Amino acid sequence: MSQQKIPSNGNRRILITSALPYANGPIHIGHMLEYVQTDIWSRFQKLVGNECYYVCADDTHGTPIMLSAQKQNITPEELIAKSHADHQKDFDGFNVQFDNFHSTHSPENKFFTEQVYNQLLAKGHIAKRTINQLYDPEKNMFLPDRFVKGECPKCGSADQYGDNCDVCSATYSPVELKNPKSAVSGSTPILKDSEHFFVKLQDFESMLKQWLLTGVSQQIANKLNEWLEVGLQEWDISRDAPYFGYQIPNEPNKFFYVWLDAPIGYMASFKNLCDKTPGLEFDDFWNKGSDAELYHFIGKDIINFHCLFWPACLSAADYRTPTQVFAHGFLTVNGTKMSKSKGTFIKASTYLNHLNPEYLRYYFAAKLSNKVDDFDLNLEDFVQRVNSDLVNKYVNIASRCAKLVQKSGGEMHAEIDQPELLKQFQDTAEEISLNYENREYSKATKAIMLLADKANTYIDEKAPWTLAKSEDTADEALKVCSMGINLFRILSIYLKPVLPALVSNVEAFLNTAPLSWQDINQPLLAHQLNKFKPLMKRVDIKQVEVMVASSVEAAPSKKKNKASKEVKKNDLSKVEPIKPEIQFEDFDKIDLRLARIVSAEHVEGADKLLRLKLDIGADEKQVFAGIKSAYAPEDLVGRLTVMVANLAPRKMRFGLSEGMVLAAGPGGSDLWILNPDEGSKPGMRVK
Ligand code: MSP
Ligand code: ZN
Repeated sequence: MSQQKIPSNGNRRILITSALPYANGPIHIGHMLEYVQTDIWSRFQKLVGNECYYVCADDTHGTPIMLSAQKQNITPEELIAKSHADHQKDFDGFNVQFDNFHSTHSPENKFFTEQVYNQLLAKGHIAKRTINQLYDPEKNMFLPDRFVKGECPKCGSADQYGDNCDVCSATYSPVELKNPKSAVSGSTPILKDSEHFFVKLQDFESMLKQWLLTGVSQQIANKLNEWLEVGLQEWDISRDAPYFGYQIPNEPNKFFYVWLDAPIGYMASFKNLCDKTPGLEFDDFWNKGSDAELYHFIGKDIINFHCLFWPACLSAADYRTPTQVFAHGFLTVNGTKMSKSKGTFIKASTYLNHLNPEYLRYYFAAKLSNKVDDFDLNLEDFVQRVNSDLVNKYVNIASRCAKLVQKSGGEMHAEIDQPELLKQFQDTAEEISLNYENREYSKATKAIMLLADKANTYIDEKAPWTLAKSEDTADEALKVCSMGINLFRILSIYLKPVLPALVSNVEAFLNTAPLSWQDINQPLLAHQLNKFKPLMKRVDIKQVEVMVASSVEAAPSKKKNKASKEVKKNDLSKVEPIKPEIQFEDFDKIDLRLARIVSAEHVEGADKLLRLKLDIGADEKQVFAGIKSAYAPEDLVGRLTVMVANLAPRKMRFGLSEGMVLAAGPGGSDLWILNPDEGSKPGMRVK
């Protein structure tokens, strides 16, 4: 049941989705674990010749998005448009290739949401009753659990959310909080009645029990069966105005809860794709009894929405149910939850400023299984794994062989040197495809790297560079290197779902059409190659350290922020000697100020400098700072730091530099600007 063994025979029609990211925040590398996992599967299905579509959308509705837009003084529509563009950029950056990336704020989604609701209503699955909820009398709105804070009813800890306590892990209802305060306005909430709409999930118990037999892994089924045994509760699908979402038909001031229309966004995105794609029929994939396969990739936190509420809604509205829902665990970094103060809460865009996306795609693949266990990104292991597998093993095969073939005109030998070895490589296709199919990517990459070891051993033993030295054995040398390139080509096909950009460069070098799974069986003989260009650079741990340092955000508390120091603590062995003593008067001449970095940009023609605009309260200063190798401009904007404000201005080739930003470290990428604690303000004097 959990291990699907459907052969990837090229005749299947498959629709794949990833969970829809919320439109009020940036994509981070935790999200990316899911999108990369799904993208590898989608690319694999396409590579073996199945008809496959991968769709996604932004999840745009709900209270947090409404409030976040208010805070930024923009409309929710403006906020979600901006997020959509940012998210699309991050996905492109990581080579996550959706066939459609839509929005839940779309005509298609409104249509299907109303349709599903009308069906639920017509079939008697909707209950209405009045409930009592906390209400913000200043903001005139009901408060979702996460927008009420107070003292934990169990342990008394202050500043806890309305649904559970961070300190003692108790869960409770927000009305149980002591001294509750609205997180929106700070006012004391009152209790207020309101009529709500519920889906009677109990009506779907036997349907869900049946679906769980094939729809999820044993691991997930066990968890959900516990819920089913306790008995399904009615599910509240309405929210009162003000709310950003869809109004419930004929119910003024009542809106659909975001989690009703969110999964319907999968249908909406696919419908939108069908409308732009001649010959692609929505009904073929969504009608009851469809023989197309439907898979949802999700994180473990949203299993109940996808494995209880969603199949129930689909069945009520007479649609097909998902073939399977695949859930993964959460990403941790260096063994702990991603943390802003440690710099391990890494945004996709920050990662892309520093590192090649395919490093991370490979690391995810190298460690992913089909289990719901959490996934640890250990940054040292990441560097080692990528360098040893991709650079030293895989790419190395091509760089060792390409030169010699190039020397003899770039045309490969007409014969295969060792047909048995080639066959071994070809015969592993089944094992590797089964591992991809079952989402056992770590097993797939392990099998691929074992083959890469074999290819390298073969080249070592034959030592073509020695053979090439004599006229008599030059042909032999070409034969060995051509064999090496054929083995490399097969490995490239196996790795193509994981490393699409790298393999596209391999295709250019091989001078072939885009590689497909079937190409494994036809080696290149007497084939002209293109010029070889280096395919992948080693990861430098320094790049990783700079990425972490630029992800550090001061914690909201007054706690000292030590993260950037910890990153480089090993390099402090050589400490600069202390300068000769000065008097206080000398020191007092220096006017140090806290400065907000308003803008940061590259300077044309300068390879070390960034142009910074600094807000120091009453004044704005332009400074050229030699920190380009250590910081990406976008990681500086908005940060608070320290500058010398009364240094005589210096005329530079690029313009006037009106001061200096303080930084520590030997230079180059080992440079750290100062990071004042939260709460301090631009313009304050440092003394
Ligand atoms: N909007 C909902 C999903 C609606 S689907 C109809 C949501 N959005 S999310 O932005 O919070 O998360 C999107 C996906 O990323 C979810 O599957 C979630 O589990 C996953 N992840 C978010 N943080 C993650 C990690 N730290 N690690 C792994 N996956 C993570 O939930
Ligand atoms: Zn508590």
